[in-house]
Amino acid sequence: MNYQYLLVTREKGLAILTFNRPDKRNAMNGEMLKEISQVLTVLARDADVNVLIINGNGEHFCAGADISWMKTIGTLSPDENQEDAEVLANLLYQLYEFPKPTIALAHGAVLGGGMGIVSVCDIALAAKNASFGFPEVKIGIAPSTISPYVIAAIGARAAHYYFLTGVRFDAQEANRIGLIHQITDDTALYQTGHALAKTLLQNGPNALTAVKHLIHSVASEKITTDLGKKTAQHLANLRKSPEAQEGLKAFLEKRAPAWNQG
Ligand code: COA
Repeated sequence: MNYQYLLVTREKGLAILTFNRPDKRNAMNGEMLKEISQVLTVLARDADVNVLIINGNGEHFCAGADISWMKTIGTLSPDENQEDAEVLANLLYQLYEFPKPTIALAHGAVLGGGMGIVSVCDIALAAKNASFGFPEVKIGIAPSTISPYVIAAIGARAAHYYFLTGVRFDAQEANRIGLIHQITDDTALYQTGHALAKTLLQNGPNALTAVKHLIHSVASEKITTDLGKKTAQHLANLRKSPEAQEGLKAFLEKRAPAWNQG
């Protein structure tokens, strides 16, 4: 498939989605959001894809929502304005629900909607040169649709500071507040992300999906005996599956499981 604003490549078990609008610093307009959503729909269903990497072409990961596009939309009818704001909200939810592990590779400017994408991905790596921030308040808006995912990633306390000030922060600070799992040299970002994807591809594909569901369903639950039952059921269901039976057998036979793609 050919896209105006994206590049999509695949190799064994892995898909790489690259924002490709470098002249506008990968700012996301309506068409680009639509394209990202279409790609996610296709890749979610593709049984040959078990891990997704998201990165950006050019000097920056993503400068957020397209400001010209938002300015135009703001002048439309209330219904059209609402409908349009829901496009990014829906896309972030689609990525949240994406059934396979997602890895964001952040470099250069990572702003506004770009922060939403990084926050919603399961794992995020950043190059030393990455610079993060929520410039929305500087242009009279708020990080509204990205807020649930950003707050889940960095917590309400850090969100208060960075949403209100709009100041930029570096990769080290992003790592400290929990947004970024690992910092790499500028030239090693892709290679490190790729190696990480290979590590994930050694794991059971259904187990990876199950782990995502597990985290989503347990993260905000109160710890009770009911929760214990729910998690026990999760494990019980998994270990009777053919994938788990193969994984357990492979360990005992001292060999790699048949599903290992790493
Ligand atoms: N929306 C629309 N266009 C954008 C954009 C955005 N979020 N970010 C950058 N661009 C465009 C610029 O208007 C410029 O277009 P032009 O060449 O037609 O004039 C082009 O991208 C290059 O931008 P420039 O600012 O010259 O690039 P830079 O490399 O010096 O700086 C950024 C990069 C990302 C730091 C800077 O562009 C920036 O701060 N962008 C705005 C980020 C923002 O406020 N996002 C809000 C999200 S809600």
